[in-house]
Amino acid sequence: MGTKPQNMVVHKMRMGFILVVACMGFLAPVHQAHIPSTTISDLSFKNMDFAMNLYRKISSYHDNNIFLSPLSVSTSFAALLMASGGVTHKELLQGLNLEQLERADQPELIPALFQLLHENITRNGSLKLDQGMALFTDQQFVVEEVFKDQIKTFFEAEIKSVDFADKEGSIRFINEYIKNKTEDKVTEMMSTLDALTELMLINTIFFQGSWQKPFNPNNTENEPFYINSYNIVQVPMMFLADKFYSMEDVALGARVLKLPYREGVSMLILLPNKGMDIVIDDAITAKKFLSWIKNLQKIKLDVKLPKFKMEESYSLQTFLPDMGMASIFSNSANLTKLSKDKGLTVSEVLHKAVIKVDETGTIAAAATTTGITAYSLPTTFFVNRPFFFFIYHEATNCLLFMGRVIDPTKN
Ligand SMILES: *[C@@H]1O[C@H](CO)[C@@H](O)[C@H](O)[C@H]1NC(C)=O
Ligand SMILES: *[C@@H]1O[C@H](CO)[C@@H](O)[C@H](O)[C@H]1NC(C)=O
Ligand SMILES: *[C@@H]1O[C@H](CO)[C@@H](O)[C@H](O)[C@H]1NC(C)=O
Ligand SMILES: *[C@@H]1O[C@H](CO)[C@@H](O)[C@H](O)[C@H]1NC(C)=O
Ligand SMILES: *[C@@H]1O[C@H](CO)[C@@H](O)[C@H](O)[C@H]1NC(C)=O
Repeated sequence: MGTKPQNMVVHKMRMGFILVVACMGFLAPVHQAHIPSTTISDLSFKNMDFAMNLYRKISSYHDNNIFLSPLSVSTSFAALLMASGGVTHKELLQGLNLEQLERADQPELIPALFQLLHENITRNGSLKLDQGMALFTDQQFVVEEVFKDQIKTFFEAEIKSVDFADKEGSIRFINEYIKNKTEDKVTEMMSTLDALTELMLINTIFFQGSWQKPFNPNNTENEPFYINSYNIVQVPMMFLADKFYSMEDVALGARVLKLPYREGVSMLILLPNKGMDIVIDDAITAKKFLSWIKNLQKIKLDVKLPKFKMEESYSLQTFLPDMGMASIFSNSANLTKLSKDKGLTVSEVLHKAVIKVDETGTIAAAATTTGITAYSLPTTFFVNRPFFFFIYHEATNCLLFMGRVIDPTKN
């Protein structure tokens, strides 16, 4: 990952307009008879490319752990897409990689696709993603009723009017609102606020799945994790011997392991070979990702994986202008669909994602491991050095989360 300036990961908050929306899974079906399900996979693919661009951007700012939810970020921007017109709209479409899905005569097509994707992912009801999205605007702006209805319909989201001049009151209100929306999982969303804030979009997501094959806590032991040649930390290392889907990307110098959850989603771990020093950020693309999934083979493996918990927040307006989405954060923002009042710009887009990885699962499925012909591949997959992980929904290949772990003891 090289050495890069270590600024900018963001735990601060600026100007004035906040929006809160809760999406996943509470979305009513709209127009979906006209949308072929292939288009959902298409949307997933496009979201994935956007996510990986965003990941690389964040990665270029620092060398630490990274964790974000591409789906949740794309979804919030789909809400802003509905709020925007003119150049601002165009930039968002391009930046999100969604131009090909835009139909001039169907302005609600993209939001409807997001809605459909969310429905598909949560169809089972078993996938538990505590997600909250909210939009807060300063009280001086009158919000268009049409927009209020749209974000309610498509994203089960609300716009809250806030007096940003009252900093303490706003912070208290926003934190409480987010706390409510996330069932107490995110309690301190923000601590500072710029009194000039006009519009703020916040989204949060928490994930803890149950492994299809849980790790036995009795086998978890403290072991070294090699951050680099100089830094070694002790981590609780989980252990499981079983059949797994795995593959080796020889060209990249990395191995891939799939760990399925019970809810139709899986974690894919990308472990660079020893000495590769994860300088492979640029190689991580949506196409690559799909090729890994396609080439997985079932083999018997001893797996070691650290327990970890990550809680990361990013002020996305730090990164997005560099990705071609600048006008929405500037004086030339066109947010006429949100409010006819002049001069409204988006002050802050805050994303916070939380994940906990541990042994949990329901009763061990005690799968029998006999009768497997192992290839001449390694029989161990020890995640004892920095790695990447991706959590995706199998049926749609939708990327729910991605991250990299440099130091599992930091959260
Ligand atoms: C979910 O999307 C996938 C991929 O497009 C599709 O095959 C599947 O039928 C969809 N499932 C539901 C329940 O809509
Ligand atoms: C903003 O977008 C709307 C709709 O796309 C357009 O009619 C309007 O002219 C734009 N306003 C500015 C100031 O660019
Ligand atoms: C949070 O939930 C409590 C209890 O349901 C409610 O009284 C309060 O108004 C909510 N706060 C916000 C900011 O939505
Ligand atoms: C862990 O060890 C305890 C004590 O030896 C034992 O009772 C328990 O069944 C073990 N748990 C599992 C999941 O094997
Ligand atoms: C839930 O999703 C999983 C994985 O896609 C699938 O195997 C299972 O049949 C689904 N359950 C229901 C009730 O649809």
